[in-house]
Amino acid sequence: MSFRIIILGSGRGSNAHAILEAEASGQLGEATTVAVLSDKKEAPILDLAKQFGKSAHYVPCRPKKARLDAEETEAFLKIIQELEADLVVLAGFMKIIDQHFIESLDGKIINLHPSLLPSFPGINSIENALNFPVKITGCTVHWVIPKIDAGKIIDQKAVTIEPDETLESLSEKVHSAEHLLLPDVIRRLSTGEISFQK
Ligand code: GAR
Repeated sequence: MSFRIIILGSGRGSNAHAILEAEASGQLGEATTVAVLSDKKEAPILDLAKQFGKSAHYVPCRPKKARLDAEETEAFLKIIQELEADLVVLAGFMKIIDQHFIESLDGKIINLHPSLLPSFPGINSIENALNFPVKITGCTVHWVIPKIDAGKIIDQKAVTIEPDETLESLSEKVHSAEHLLLPDVIRRLSTGEISFQK
């Protein structure tokens, strides 16, 4: 039985890479990536999807707007629903989606965030943790709700901030933790080890 996932991302796609690598090496449980979607035409994540033989879709969006409008939302939903996704994974997707988007997917949508939520939601989370300064930060996978970075937490991975930590070194540590956490959460959702929220 296959568990169909669609990845949405806006940038370099290192987390999509981790998911696709896990899938290729049999570490993604029952999950199969059926498509990668991006709001950015030139996003490396789309080239990456093609390298792994996956279908890649650019969905045109107004570049300077934080939120998807109704037309953009429908364009994403059309592809997701046609491909009958069991789960949508936001992996570096930088647009804000609305309640209609989430409800249309019956809440089967997760997001990756580079901090230990509820600390440091929003943007620049790694830098904000470093400058606060906290001693421990990390990454979170959570269910998506209409409020930003506020849905129920599925799992987290912590990283320690050392006294000589730089933004570069901390970013590397947080991203490495993300690359382990996100594929593992997808695997556990695909096998039923983690239940979908009611
Ligand atoms: C990741 O660090 C992810 O946590 C973050 O964007 C990065 C995407 O990297 N997401 C957010 O900040 C969402 N609020 P990637 O394109 O290399 O996977």
